Amino acid sequence: MNSVVDSSIIDIENADNFELGGFADHNTPLIKDCWYVAALTHEVSREVISKRLLGVDVALYRTLAGKAVAVRNRCPHRSFPLSKGKLEGDVLVCGYHGMAFNPSGHCVKMPALPIVPTHADVRGYPVVERGPLVWIWLGHPDRADESLVPDTEWLASPQWKTVNGFFPIKADYVSMHENLLDQTHFPFLHPGAIGTPEYARSKLDARMDGDSVVIDRALLNSPPPGVYAMPTGLAGKPVDRFSEARFVSPALHRAFARIVDNNDPSGKPRTYRFNITHIFTPETNQSMHYWWFCSRDFKHDDAAIDEHLSTASAKAYLEDVDALEWIMDNILKDSEPQFDLHFAPDKPGLMMRQSLYRLAMAEVGKTS
Ligand code: FES
Ligand SMILES: [Fe+2]
Repeated sequence: MNSVVDSSIIDIENADNFELGGFADHNTPLIKDCWYVAALTHEVSREVISKRLLGVDVALYRTLAGKAVAVRNRCPHRSFPLSKGKLEGDVLVCGYHGMAFNPSGHCVKMPALPIVPTHADVRGYPVVERGPLVWIWLGHPDRADESLVPDTEWLASPQWKTVNGFFPIKADYVSMHENLLDQTHFPFLHPGAIGTPEYARSKLDARMDGDSVVIDRALLNSPPPGVYAMPTGLAGKPVDRFSEARFVSPALHRAFARIVDNNDPSGKPRTYRFNITHIFTPETNQSMHYWWFCSRDFKHDDAAIDEHLSTASAKAYLEDVDALEWIMDNILKDSEPQFDLHFAPDKPGLMMRQSLYRLAMAEVGKTS
């Protein structure tokens, strides 16, 4: 624990406004009882692909009828990756000795034996497709409740136009969630793009909503940041900006923004909406898959706006990726002990880390 005495620094182990309990970091066990995104729908086809998700290698393919299938990518005989085998109809055949598995993972053939062996199945995982996303449940199968798949309906709605991208990241997913709840880094890591100094200093309201952490923020009568200025055509003009950033689950952070132009030529206030979706699936404790989506509810047919949002978003998120990889590298390789300082604006991130820790510890206590 640091010895600096400063009221703006939070001593998280002794602070009154935090419950007792730990804070998740890159050493915390990954949370399995949660729907995560395994892939985008277009990635899953009749070609078998593999992805490492929560430390488990998973093979993904589609049946002849088009249903997405996920099974463990490790043959129960000699650990051959099933993704290196082949599909015969809907049956996945191991490329080493020919064991064959149906889409549930049930073994239907072992060519070296005259009978089909029992207890020779490979684990299958529940999969749900919603819009562009293939969600997977890697936790206990009895707890795979489809009603718990988080809502991302705007990604499939004709009312929204979306651009998107992907980064593999060599950093832990906890720090990525913390980054998105940490709005004071915007004008420094992303100068001119996402944040403005006024926005960084604007009052924020952070609260828990079940296991979620929500930040509400309003900044009135101030010009929009670069990423929103071009699409709205309101560069340099005073607008009201309202935003909600929400840590929804270990797999999802969403940020909704409303830019309100009170001086629209129509004489009525005009609202421009942006929904930003950040999807994380830990690959391991120290690496992750990161999909981002930027959706807007206006000017769907403007290709220049698509290009601008795509380029500006990718640039900003790459800045986050770089920062988090540098930080992870420091944490893993620097041998001198360090106790990070926590300031008052870090509170939403700390609340999220507590929530993740509680979820992880609750799961450690369950039978799996
Ligand atoms: S390793 Fe798959 S059948 Fe032997
Ligand atoms: Fe950022």
